[in-house]
Amino acid sequence: MYLLNGEPGGCIDIADRGFQYGDGLFETLEVVDGNPLFLQEHLSRLEKGCKKLLIPPPDLHLLAEEARKCASAAAHAVLKLIVTRGCGGRGYRQPPVISPTRLFTLHPYPDYPAEFQSRGVALRICRHRLAGNPALAGIKHLNRLEQILARAEWRDDDIQEGLMLDQHGFVVEGTMSNLFLVKDGVLYTPDLSQCGVAGIVREIVVRLALQNQIPLLVMAVDRHALFQADELFVCNSVIGIWPVRQLEQQQWRAGEVTQTLQKLFGELRGQGR
Ligand SMILES: Cc1ncc(COP(=O)(O)O)c(C=O)c1O
Repeated sequence: MYLLNGEPGGCIDIADRGFQYGDGLFETLEVVDGNPLFLQEHLSRLEKGCKKLLIPPPDLHLLAEEARKCASAAAHAVLKLIVTRGCGGRGYRQPPVISPTRLFTLHPYPDYPAEFQSRGVALRICRHRLAGNPALAGIKHLNRLEQILARAEWRDDDIQEGLMLDQHGFVVEGTMSNLFLVKDGVLYTPDLSQCGVAGIVREIVVRLALQNQIPLLVMAVDRHALFQADELFVCNSVIGIWPVRQLEQQQWRAGEVTQTLQKLFGELRGQGR
């Protein structure tokens, strides 16, 4: 099932700048009982991304309506939205009139074992590093070559995620998720001012920590801090919150702060927002 510019069917134009240059943005949402979760948060990040990339944002009410229409028949699924700058000429120069393309596609929800939520997952540290660029940091733009190269580093199905470092060796995030650490009851998450995607679940976890008196620091996190942590977890809109049970050779149990945040996040998710 897909909706291209509001219509089921149709094809992407080969002159579309999303295809030509990755000139656009995307969002990935979990759908439960026909309801795209945290829709407003996703649309507002998309709008911010459009502003940063100088793409006129599509009407957010229209996007919300199309998101619900595309997801309406799905019990549990993943909804992906792509917005591009639309069609243009051969060069990089923007067309005089920009008419963004919007595409919603619906996908089966991945069949993750329940123990990923309870016992946690195994992670590795990727060799491929993220480049710094404050102009693109935080937004979910379509250029994901860094993540593709990092994800190509392993085939072992026992490893669910790879952590990525920046050019200075600080830990930024996973290839498809954001990272949190707990040390002595304090929650830490890497600063994303130079690179990384400011995830919707990361934003919600930060909000939940503040509302529930869990001290939180957003800062540069080095490799050493990872192995000193009492708890680690990764999060995104499809997986929710996964505790980390193993990173390279070191092992952890799902800790108290992680479990509290999983519970609080689960409550919000259950309310569909
Ligand atoms: C590189 C990267 N970082 C972080 C995230 C988490 O973002 P969100 O919580 O909005 O799903 C994603 C999600 O796909 C991602 O691809």
